[in-house]
Amino acid sequence: MTSYNPVTTMSNRVVVFDTTLRDGEQSPGVRLSLQEKLEIGAQLVRLGVDILEAGFPISSPGDFESVNTLARELHGVTICGLTRAREKDIEVAAEALKPAARRRIHTGLGVSENHLQHKLRMSREEALEVGVKAVKHARQFTDDIEYFMEDSGRADPDYVYKVVEEVIKAGATTINVPDTTGYTYPNEYYKLIHGIISNVPNSDKAVFSCHCHNDLGMATANTLAGVLGGARQVEVTVNGIGERAGNTALEEVVMAMYVRRDIFDFATRIDTTQLVATSRMVSEKTGMLVQRNKAVVGANAYAHSSGIHQDGVLKERSTYEIISPELVGAEKSEIILTARSGRHGLRHRLRELGYEFTEERFEQVYNEFVQLADTVKEVNEEHLQKLVAG
Ligand code: KIV
Ligand code: ZN
Repeated sequence: MTSYNPVTTMSNRVVVFDTTLRDGEQSPGVRLSLQEKLEIGAQLVRLGVDILEAGFPISSPGDFESVNTLARELHGVTICGLTRAREKDIEVAAEALKPAARRRIHTGLGVSENHLQHKLRMSREEALEVGVKAVKHARQFTDDIEYFMEDSGRADPDYVYKVVEEVIKAGATTINVPDTTGYTYPNEYYKLIHGIISNVPNSDKAVFSCHCHNDLGMATANTLAGVLGGARQVEVTVNGIGERAGNTALEEVVMAMYVRRDIFDFATRIDTTQLVATSRMVSEKTGMLVQRNKAVVGANAYAHSSGIHQDGVLKERSTYEIISPELVGAEKSEIILTARSGRHGLRHRLRELGYEFTEERFEQVYNEFVQLADTVKEVNEEHLQKLVAG
């Protein structure tokens, strides 16, 4: 049996729980082969995630096999399997996870009135009993148990407090507080996490985890608010892929905590220089394109096109960049020539191509550039060579 004591988790460490291969793979239209999961899994280990949720073993023989294979092949990471709060699910997950040196069972069920009434068709008391039984059953297979309270974001906090207290007593070591529908806004999610930690008498015996969905575009903000509220685990996916509008993007949370370390005095184990490579691999294997203006890893994230910005960045990069591209493994900052670009940007690009001109000749090239720029989206290297050749 693995030995894991969440209470000893350093308070300034935020644990990164990656669910790209479970919640991320639930993105409509995505299906990863075992080989693709292994490659992504190995890259996630290089990236430095602490926990890798590899799948939902009872859901299909393929999912069982991939959790089992990742549990055998990947080292230096905790492998996690999702289950419903059912004995059979838990036993199947335990079997799939057996080869892992460090394994976690992630079980639980809904806590909102909506889920209790419409989906589970149980009273609060019945659902609590089922959850407690599931945790006790799971503890026979590992002492690293995460309990999820689905739809916590829309639940009655008093019921949530009760559930947390009882499942910790039953042996849960991490408590996942999902905003399953992406309904909350940051202040509310902060209060939810903070409220749990302050009102539940045994809350010091577990780590609290943020699991946010992006239906209103607030997943990253909510996750960060949860960390400020006392959570020390973040559940994320690469590029924010996942059900509907997706999950919290790993790269956004990690870089927000890094860039704003004046506010977030927390460390992760993530090697940020692997972020772009990981994003590209996940995009390629899932077929989910990354929008060009995506924070941190988008193709335009370090590109400057207007004359005012180019002038600033060429004088001092920090005028318009708060992240150095090298820090996330991106190519250097780019100066993109468009109709909004000015002399400074043009001169820079020409110098990069090896051209130096007299002021008079440069003005001629600039005038021709301005005319051309009005007719194309971007003035590229080929255009510049033609301009220079006259
Ligand atoms: O969003 C959610 O509530 C989940 C749970 C199954 C953890 O993904
Ligand atoms: Zn989810």
